[in-house]
Order: sequence, then structure tokens, then C-alpha cells
Amino acid sequence: MYIENSGSWIALAIILTSILTAWALNYSAPKVRVFGTLLAALGCFAVAAWFFFFVTSSGMLENPKPNQTPLDSAKPSLLWAQALISLASGLFLLFIARGQSKSKSKSKSKSKSNNILVLSSVNEQDRYGRVSRLLHWVIAILVLSLIPMGIFASMIPEGTEYRLAYYVAHKSLGVSVFFLVLFRLAWNSFSKRPTLSDSLTAKERKLAHGAHITLYFMMLAIPVTGYMMTSYHGYGTFFFMWELPPLWGESDIYLVWGAIHKYLSWMSVSMVFGDVWFNAKYANTTAHSERVK
Ligand code: HEM
Repeated sequence: MYIENSGSWIALAIILTSILTAWALNYSAPKVRVFGTLLAALGCFAVAAWFFFFVTSSGMLENPKPNQTPLDSAKPSLLWAQALISLASGLFLLFIARGQSKSKSKSKSKSKSNNILVLSSVNEQDRYGRVSRLLHWVIAILVLSLIPMGIFASMIPEGTEYRLAYYVAHKSLGVSVFFLVLFRLAWNSFSKRPTLSDSLTAKERKLAHGAHITLYFMMLAIPVTGYMMTSYHGYGTFFFMWELPPLWGESDIYLVWGAIHKYLSWMSVSMVFGDVWFNAKYANTTAHSERVK
């Protein structure tokens, strides 16, 4: 039983914060949405603070575990880049929150119902419903926390006191993402997704469709490869207080699963940027922004 392990508590805290943030970001009342944006900014600052106050003084950037592939020497720079992006995103979100609260007070003077977001639980033909949005944001926040956490965990040498806590937190969150994605897929078949915007060309529709399928595939393949790597390495997979022992004997093939896990995770970052770019590009077309607003 690993309930005593701080990794389980950290994972639980991250899940609860991500649910609260996702709920607030899609709440009907504008002031709760401002609170959601502030929570998201706080999350970004927490990642930056973790890096600048803990990681930089841990000695892992200078003396990490021996590299398994030549590209592993890029990990300290990747962590630096992620910390700086988190800091910049936190500041950007503060700026957005300021804009949201200004437009809230403007619309208050015009009409009270102007800024109220009325959503149904299920998806509608022209916009995502509450359940899809909640799942989308919770999964996104968890994946964005798993990446720096996984990179740092993979740099910690055996025998370091807090190594297990990182692995317990990383695996618990990773397994949670796996189940949340399965739930999202089941939800999509129960509640049909909105149709794509008419403003997209046939080529863009194909691209959007392909990107969605690839993202779902990766969100399932990354946890599965993590599980395969862990099991072939002879370790258990944690899900909070539970530990699933390896289902087969140890083998060096864990290195192959580990490499797939690593490169798929790194690739998922570029997919997330691609998704943000696509949404930003079409955010100004009324039809598209209605779907995600
Ligand atoms: C969506 C879910 C997940 C994401 C985004 C993710 C991401 C990552 C990343 C980016 C790394 C660093 C890889 C490197 O640069 O070497 C990593 C490492 C690791 N992940 Fe995951 N992971 C996920 C799920 C899981 C799951 C479910 C498990 C196990 C059951 C797992 C086990 C591990 C282990 C053991 C390492 C460290 C490997 C080492 O020590 O070299 N991950 N993960």
C-alpha cells in the first residue's frame, strides 16, 4: 500500500486542482471563468517555481542519471525551456484574466445576460458540452504536468530519497490519463461531437480529423508504452495506493518501450502546440469560436 507515499498525495492534489480549474474555466458566470483563468496562471507559476526553487538546486541538471540515448543530454535544456514557457504562459494568462474581468464589468453595465455561458452537459451540433470541455481541460492539464515531471523523474539516479515519490505521482497521473481518454472516447460515441466549421477547406477538415485521431492514439499509446517499459524493467505500476506488479519477467526490451514512450511524449508537445496554433488561427471565425467558446 502506497497511500503513505507523498507521490500519491501529490498526484491527488494535481488531479483535484485540474478538475477545479477545468470546471471554473467553463462555468456559466463570467467571474468564475476569470477565477479559472487565474487558477490556470497559478498552475503555470507553480511549474516555474518548482523548477527555479527545487530542480535548479537539486543537482540533477548537472549530474543526472547516465544517459540512455544521445538525445537525453537535451533534458536540462528541455526543462529550462518548459520553465520559461510556463512563466511566460502564467503572465499571459494574468493578462487574459484582466481582459476578461474588464469585459465582464463593461457588459454588466449593458446587459446582465450578455456574458453568461449557457452550456448543456451533452455536445450540441455547433458547440461542445460541459462534460467534453471538462474532460478536455483535465486531460490537457494532466499531460502538461506529466511531461516535465517525467523528464525530471528520468534524470533522478537510483537511491535518491524522493525518486519513488516522483515515479508514484507520474505513474498514477499517467494511468488516470489513460482511463480519462477511454472515458472521453466512450463519451464521444454517446454524445456526437460538433460538426467542423464550414469555414474550413476540405484539406483543413482532413487535417483536423487526422490530428484528432493522432492525438487520441498518442494519449493512449503513451501510458501503454510507460506501462510496458515499467513492467519489462521489473517494476510495479502505481495507481495511487494500488500497485500493479509486473505481469512478465524482466527484459532489456524495456529500453525500446522506454524510447517509444519518450519520443511519443516529446512529440505530443508539438501536437499540443499545433492544436493551439490551429485554434488561434480560426478563433476569429465566428463559427469556430462558437464551438469552443
Ligand atoms: C499521458 C501519460 C504520460 C505522459 C505524457 C508521460 C510522459 C513522460 C515523459 C515526457 C517522460 C520523460 C522521458 C524521457 O525524456 O526520458 C516519462 C518518463 C517516464 N514515464 Fe511517463 N508518461 C505518461 C504515462 C506514464 C505511465 C502510465 C507510466 C507507467 C505506468 C509511465 C512511466 C514512466 C517512467 C518509468 C519514466 C521514466 C523513465 C526513465 O527513468 O528513464 N509514464 N514519461
